[in-house]
Amino acid sequence: MNLKMPLVDLKAQHLELKTEMNAAIQEVLESQHFIMGPVVDAFEKELAIYTDVAFAYGCASGTDALQLALMALNIGPGDEVITTPFTFAATVEVIALLGAIPVYADIDPATFNMRWDLLEDLITPRTKAIIPVHLYGQPVDLNEMMEIGKRHNIPIIEDGAQALGALYHGRKACGIGAIGCTSFFPAKNLGAYGDAGGVFTADPELADRMNKIRVHGSQKRYWHEMVGVNSRIDAIQAAVLKVKLPHLDRWNQHRQQAADWYRSRLNPDFVTPPICKSDRTHIYQQFTIRTPERDALQIFLAGEGIPSAVHYPTPLFLQPAFRDAHWDDRCPESLIAANQVLSLPMHPYLTEEQVDQVVETIHQYFKQD
Ligand SMILES: Cc1ncc(COP(=O)(O)O)c(C=O)c1O
Repeated sequence: MNLKMPLVDLKAQHLELKTEMNAAIQEVLESQHFIMGPVVDAFEKELAIYTDVAFAYGCASGTDALQLALMALNIGPGDEVITTPFTFAATVEVIALLGAIPVYADIDPATFNMRWDLLEDLITPRTKAIIPVHLYGQPVDLNEMMEIGKRHNIPIIEDGAQALGALYHGRKACGIGAIGCTSFFPAKNLGAYGDAGGVFTADPELADRMNKIRVHGSQKRYWHEMVGVNSRIDAIQAAVLKVKLPHLDRWNQHRQQAADWYRSRLNPDFVTPPICKSDRTHIYQQFTIRTPERDALQIFLAGEGIPSAVHYPTPLFLQPAFRDAHWDDRCPESLIAANQVLSLPMHPYLTEEQVDQVVETIHQYFKQD
């Protein structure tokens, strides 16, 4: 068979929108207004409406979005921030960058998301924020986390880099916590044509701080109220995202359809498909299965022309950059998941035939011995 297929099909998406996209980019080129400006304003308004929050701002990346959130909350040296060790490095990188200390809550093996029932024991007088990650596109147990946060006066920052468009109790992920953060990295469900990110909040004070911090702590030219960074979103990325945003729900629905195809075909005796809790939606930034034979299966799939990826092979407390042996025995599920997870091809253009091909190849692997 050996039909080549991509893990994520960005070319198909570009082809779908090419004419409109070229016109939108051309308009920015004609205006020569490259950073912030009217296109950025218009995109931010549409993004705020989409997520149903009062304030949405673009910034330079999802990593920066998290940094802006922490800076807006005045988090700095010695402060503790509780998060998951089973995420992309950026979540913890920004904590470390600001001199704060990452504190880890292990994951629920069924969803790969951080467990809310471990939080209370991890809270100390130094805890200044909790950053749950809606991993692979499924929101965490936000109600329980928000309740604990409220009781201890600790803000929840949603890392929704992988979950823009997912619903939790009918509300959009990123629009529920004190601050929401997302990434518009090209391969994300809403991807730019380069790096970009976004922050969301209902709180006017936090909104004002993030709005200033992303522009050198300034709103009035050459007047700097606070220490900030350069994390503006550029107009070309905003123009691209503005063209794509109206299509996001349809693309997410196709991902959900593809996930159903996978689930109805995959033999659960061979691999464990992801589950989605009934009070939320999963938008499948990744469709991630688990099997103890992960490494051998991945090699077999590659040999048959089927790409796959491991999100993520190393819990963050084991990474040289954030090495902290304190957590070695405290996050067993993250360690197991890191050895078992495998993300299969998933994107809005995946066909039923391609899903069949992936599933048949997985089954072939398990039937060979
Ligand atoms: C969970 C999570 N957080 C943060 C980020 C950082 O986003 P970006 O790559 O846009 O900086 C990513 C992106 O890969 C992510 O998956």
